Amino acid sequence: MTVNAKTRVTPRRALLLGAVAALAAGMVVGVTGAAQAGTTLGASAAEKGRFFGTAVAAGRLGDSAYTTILNREFNQVTPENEMKTDATEPQQNQFSYGNADRIVAHARANGMQVRGHTLAWHAQQPSWMQGMSGSTLRNAMLNHVTQVATHFRGQVAWWDVVNEAFADGGGGGRRDSNLQRTGNDWIEAAFRAARAADPNAQLCYNDYNTDNWTDAKTQGVYRMVQDFKQRGVPIDCVGFQSHFTGGSNYPSNYRTTLSSFAALGVDVHITELDIRNAPVDAYRNVTNDCLAVARCKGITVWGIRDSDSWRSSESPLLFNGSGQKKSAYDAVLAALNNGTTPPTGTPTTPPPTTTPPPSGSCTASATPGQVWGDRYNTSVTVSGASTWAVVVSITSPQKISSTWSGSPTWDGSGLVMTMRSNGSGDTFGFTTMMNGNSSARPQIVSCTAG
Ligand code: G3I
Repeated sequence: MTVNAKTRVTPRRALLLGAVAALAAGMVVGVTGAAQAGTTLGASAAEKGRFFGTAVAAGRLGDSAYTTILNREFNQVTPENEMKTDATEPQQNQFSYGNADRIVAHARANGMQVRGHTLAWHAQQPSWMQGMSGSTLRNAMLNHVTQVATHFRGQVAWWDVVNEAFADGGGGGRRDSNLQRTGNDWIEAAFRAARAADPNAQLCYNDYNTDNWTDAKTQGVYRMVQDFKQRGVPIDCVGFQSHFTGGSNYPSNYRTTLSSFAALGVDVHITELDIRNAPVDAYRNVTNDCLAVARCKGITVWGIRDSDSWRSSESPLLFNGSGQKKSAYDAVLAALNNGTTPPTGTPTTPPPTTTPPPSGSCTASATPGQVWGDRYNTSVTVSGASTWAVVVSITSPQKISSTWSGSPTWDGSGLVMTMRSNGSGDTFGFTTMMNGNSSARPQIVSCTAG
């Protein structure tokens, strides 16, 4: 790692740089003893084995107020526009890396990791690509992935290989685009090309409106990642853009979403966080949700000051236009400092299960709760109905030993519980004795309204 001459290596800075170097080497940082409270977002996140980053615009690197905050607070950067296809290949086979290289150089000189954004996307395509289709487009896209990933080999820790390929709305399917029309396998083809070009970069799928676990779009992406893992398509991570209240609110089941994807065997990242009017609670909750999931490796906000934001009129970031810390900044820093360090090898939270909501029915989402040596808790939240019956099955020899906030009945085996609402709310819970099986987790079989 290069450290520029201006950087004074204080003990805290040394800890940060050590942590960043360890992260770059793919290690989970373990902090022994009582960690000191970090005084910046990046330092505090590094103490928890995470990164805290920001989108960066090359055009702002000459603004000293901007770079002062960038260098002080963040240990990861994502070029906001400079690595997109229209920027890096403005004419076919003529590559242009000037602005992206400037950001990468700045990051490397200041001990920050780089997320490459993005190799294949339906938007911000150069005009030559917009007019293409079929195998010509497929080959051009794969050539782009190969050339760009090769250029940045060794400098980019993670690539958003494919961005925003799923449709909004209820279907959970792919977004129509010129890339999608080249064949449904275009995403895995892009991932394989990226792996071949830069075998050491972590390869991510990145999208928005995938934060609410019960949304069809979230489930669609989940099924794709599950399929990729089962078939050996090289995918290492999933990015949750998390542009909140720009069409979707921060959902209370966000942690369930993160832990469910993590349980597929991928890291999860919060990649483009901004929240309309920067509410303290939502920023704190997002931070705590990431810290609660061992494989949530870091948070990137989508810009530094409100004036740098793509939606600056909503003041969604952690610093105001004058570069002063906002209340949301204090909340995030406090959450980072209060958070726990996941021990190396901590098992990922088991996947909660969700029933798809057929019309006239309800949805039940299970969230893992406290775990002891011999038992664990699960809570289930029902939406879509005020009275309901949720069927939950467990795996023998596990046994449900207690329940709360519902009226249970059992089948003859004792492995299938039907929990009915009893007027105490939409969330019920239960304790399961492991009885020697510490890995199985309950499945939600159905949710019936009425
Ligand atoms: O640089 C030109 C400038 O020369 C020109 O005068 C001006 C006129 O409109 O446009 C400038 O380019 C703009 C560019 O941002 C840089 O500011 C583009 O028009 C504008 O479309 C572009 O917007 C970017 C947007 O992606 C494009 O889709 C935003 O900055 C960027 O924050 C945003 O980022 C996306 C992520 O990549 C993916 N997820 C959603 C996120 C927000 O939309």
